[in-house]
Amino acid sequence: RIVYLNGQWLPEDEAKVSIFDRGYTFADAIYEVTAVIGGKLLDYPGHVTRLKRSLEAIGIPMPVGENELLDLHHEIVAKNGVDEGLIYLQVSRGAEDRNFLYSEDLKPTFSMFTQAFPVLANPKVESGITVVSMPDGRWVNRQIKTVQLLYSSLAKMEAKKQGADDVIFVEDGFITEASSANFHIITRAGVLVTRHLSNALLHGITRGSVLGLAGKADLQFEERAFSVEEALDAAEAFVTSATNFVMPVVSIDGKAIGSGRPGASTLKLREIYIADKL
Ligand code: PDD
Repeated sequence: RIVYLNGQWLPEDEAKVSIFDRGYTFADAIYEVTAVIGGKLLDYPGHVTRLKRSLEAIGIPMPVGENELLDLHHEIVAKNGVDEGLIYLQVSRGAEDRNFLYSEDLKPTFSMFTQAFPVLANPKVESGITVVSMPDGRWVNRQIKTVQLLYSSLAKMEAKKQGADDVIFVEDGFITEASSANFHIITRAGVLVTRHLSNALLHGITRGSVLGLAGKADLQFEERAFSVEEALDAAEAFVTSATNFVMPVVSIDGKAIGSGRPGASTLKLREIYIADKL
């Protein structure tokens, strides 16, 4: 692969970052993941807007201008001949001697790489995924897309040990989201319910797109908190993310949701989302 690092295109094994980089020592970095289908970027404007918001929240400057950023996205897809997959980008505060206090004028470290994989023909769509619930032990500013992903990574490993595909986090009796996706239900009355936006969860770009398309799937939606019990009583459930699009969830903690199979409205939403983005 050809990767991007601080203004240079390099073979992946020649891209080097300092061990003093604060992304490495403090997880002091922001990231974004954008899906690519047929060489096309999905929901790109939303991802850039969130990148700017995340960087601003922790006081890291945008490393390049917006036009250049878009060009870099197109270039990295072209250089790597990516048909389906993702673009990962990360901006860390920069490198200096380890110190909890950082210099305000550090030069950010900006890297990008691609990962190719079948996004559309994901075999999990047929079966749906299973999840287990766990306490949400992440920090409180989950609307900022930082690379502090250890808790989520450990939780997903634990879910796997328990035989599940993913985890849904619960805080104060209500579901926040999955390890790296937003979680939603469709009630038996046919209402799409998704948690309202706050610091408790990442403001998913796919979530926003899907809510905008709910009408096309004959679904009304409500944004509010809901519990595991309410989710288990729902007709359908699904997660959304840049890499999953709309992915059916068929059970929580070993208990089936609805028929225990991917729901019809969920699959319709997935089709509508894909048709809208391509
Ligand atoms: N994760 N919630 C969390 C905690 C996430 O990490 C993500 C995305 C989402 C969905 O956001 P979006 O629809 O904008 O992708 C929700 C990416 C895909 C990742 O970490 O790989």
